[in-house]
Amino acid sequence: MKLDQVHAVVTGGASGMGKATVQALIAEGGKVCIVDYNKEWGEELAKSLGANAYFEFADVSDPARAEEIVKGAKQKFGYVNVVVTCAGVGSGTRVLPRGGGVFPLDTFKRVLDINLVGTFNYTCQGALAMTEAPGNEDDEHGVIINCSSLAASGGQIGQAAYAASKSGVNAMVLPIARELARVGIRVNAIAPGLISTNIIPVDMENRPKVRRDEMPEDPNNPMAKDFIFPKRQGRATDFSSLVLEVIRNTLINGAVLPLDGAIRFSPKW
Ligand SMILES: NC(=O)c1ccc[n+]([C@@H]2O[C@H](COP(=O)([O-])OP(=O)(O)OC[C@H]3O[C@@H](n4cnc5c(N)ncnc54)[C@H](O)[C@@H]3O)[C@@H](O)[C@H]2O)c1
Repeated sequence: MKLDQVHAVVTGGASGMGKATVQALIAEGGKVCIVDYNKEWGEELAKSLGANAYFEFADVSDPARAEEIVKGAKQKFGYVNVVVTCAGVGSGTRVLPRGGGVFPLDTFKRVLDINLVGTFNYTCQGALAMTEAPGNEDDEHGVIINCSSLAASGGQIGQAAYAASKSGVNAMVLPIARELARVGIRVNAIAPGLISTNIIPVDMENRPKVRRDEMPEDPNNPMAKDFIFPKRQGRATDFSSLVLEVIRNTLINGAVLPLDGAIRFSPKW
């Protein structure tokens, strides 16, 4: 798909990898609806990008809002042919927490609700909208890119909920890609390793005080020993660069693409 023909909905677009994706798509001549529940950062970003971007406040786990937002983007842009789902939260909760008891089930369910159900909501609504998007020379009508994680296949201690949510994202890719082939829609996921962003745990659902994605790289990063190559943490732009290639390259379909510099997580840091 040609990048200047992209009309996208990007969830989690106010920060980190979603934000870098929004900026890259706009720079390539696309139009983007930014979805996030961080209103301040989302509005600030949309304002900085001009007329081809706008912001919608939403919790991605809300299916009615997903329907409303994707329909709205279709109306505003004429069609929607790309969905990138980056909204996500982390969780560092043990099955047997040090303070006693067990992993709170509400936390477990909330992580799945945002990372897996939220991804599914926008995948479904995006697919529906794409059936009415114009096709290109390959009769391609849309591209869906979901954000997974290296943790899906190698979660650390405390990542039971997070790893379960991301392996769910991975598992959906092939069956949905196979189904949507009929209507010319490709479905892929990208599984990053460690990227410098503002990712927050589910139990602090408000913005972090410091914007790490705007800070210089820390030469004393405690995770540096685990880097293979390159010897640095990933950048949000490493992710957005791959998103652009997945959109451009029609043969990438039904895949979970690693983006981790060969890093493997140790059981804990
Ligand atoms: N940073 C990493 O090292 C890393 C590694 C692998 C995967 N990921 C995944 O990448 C994706 C993007 O995360 P990031 O690292 O850019 O973090 P980030 O926190 O900078 O961006 C995530 C965005 O999602 C939004 N969000 C969270 N819950 C939401 C909800 N319920 N509704 C709407 N918006 C919501 C946040 O407000 C934030 O703007 C996530 O799915 C994350 O799990 C991150």
